[in-house]
Amino acid sequence: MDKTTDHTRREAAPVVPADDANLVSASRILLDGGLVAMPTETVYGLAADATNGRAVASIYTAKGRPSFNPLICHVADRAMAETCAVFSPLAHALADHFWPGPLTLVLPRAATCPVSELATAGLDTIAVRMPKSPAALELIRLVGRPLAAPSANPSERLSPTTAAHVAENLGDRIDLILDGGVCRAGLESTIIALTKTGAAMLRPGALARSGIELLTGLLTAPDPHAGIVAPGMMRRHYAPRAPLRLDAVDAREGESFLAFGAPPKGVTASLNLSERGDLEEAASNLFAMLRRLDATSNAIAVAPIPDTGLGEGINDRLKRAAARFPKDGV
Ligand code: TXA
Ligand code: MG
Repeated sequence: MDKTTDHTRREAAPVVPADDANLVSASRILLDGGLVAMPTETVYGLAADATNGRAVASIYTAKGRPSFNPLICHVADRAMAETCAVFSPLAHALADHFWPGPLTLVLPRAATCPVSELATAGLDTIAVRMPKSPAALELIRLVGRPLAAPSANPSERLSPTTAAHVAENLGDRIDLILDGGVCRAGLESTIIALTKTGAAMLRPGALARSGIELLTGLLTAPDPHAGIVAPGMMRRHYAPRAPLRLDAVDAREGESFLAFGAPPKGVTASLNLSERGDLEEAASNLFAMLRRLDATSNAIAVAPIPDTGLGEGINDRLKRAAARFPKDGV
């Protein structure tokens, strides 16, 4: 028989502080094939032992995610990363600069890689990241294996930036939720693929393009012929239920207005991503504010966000969230 325990997920998972004792309990659950939501500096992750195929499969089930969409493997240090992936000198340089932190590297899968094929969706590449959150790092160390962890939200819904968000949407499908407070960045990691021909940005995110390009040179868009399934290449993603109208300069009848900086004349902002027009602050508020407006209004108008720095990631998420709806929000 498979030694994975059948974690019956009918009751709501306990939400506990990410302290030492709870991290030890969480590591046991993970080693036993269970699912634990963990805080990271970007968003909450839904973690499983990446080397346990059944545990990984239960991530896909809990999220309702199409199984061809591969997962990020979270590591505690470079040595663990190198058991999973082949590091080129450029990959090492990027890791030296940006790890621990919100940079995910897509690299060739190492011959010795212990990660389940299901986590990498059968690709010959693997996405690895060393998160910055001390709780996440300690949890990975305690487990001693890479943790596969997508954002802890049902597929296509908004990513969670608090433990309460996770409890609300996935609580009855997982074993434990570690509460590490509000995620600092609030936007998922930036994903870079390193190939023989160069570096491509697969997903803009919490690390701005400009810093990365100092090391990589100009980042290209993903090569459509390379067979790389980039995240969010599924057009609709990160979506609230209410229709979203982007680059709005007014609020129409029935719409709530999500401002950035000073709202347009005559418009009352329902919420403001950042009153002082700070993109970092806006990124950290984005998902939580969309969630609040989604719960309280039937339609959301969002102010224009500059496309510089973290604005690239914010606009990417907003476009995907709006994708279901006609351009003009009619
Ligand atoms: O900030 C983050 O990255 C969060 C936290 C929890 O670490 N995680 C996260 O994971 O956003 P997820 O699974 O929601 O998004 C990871 C994306 C997937 O959409 C997938 O398409 C892409 O990474 N990915 C994973 N492995 C890949 C690979 N080998 N090649 C191309 N893309 C890959
Ligand atoms: Mg996600």
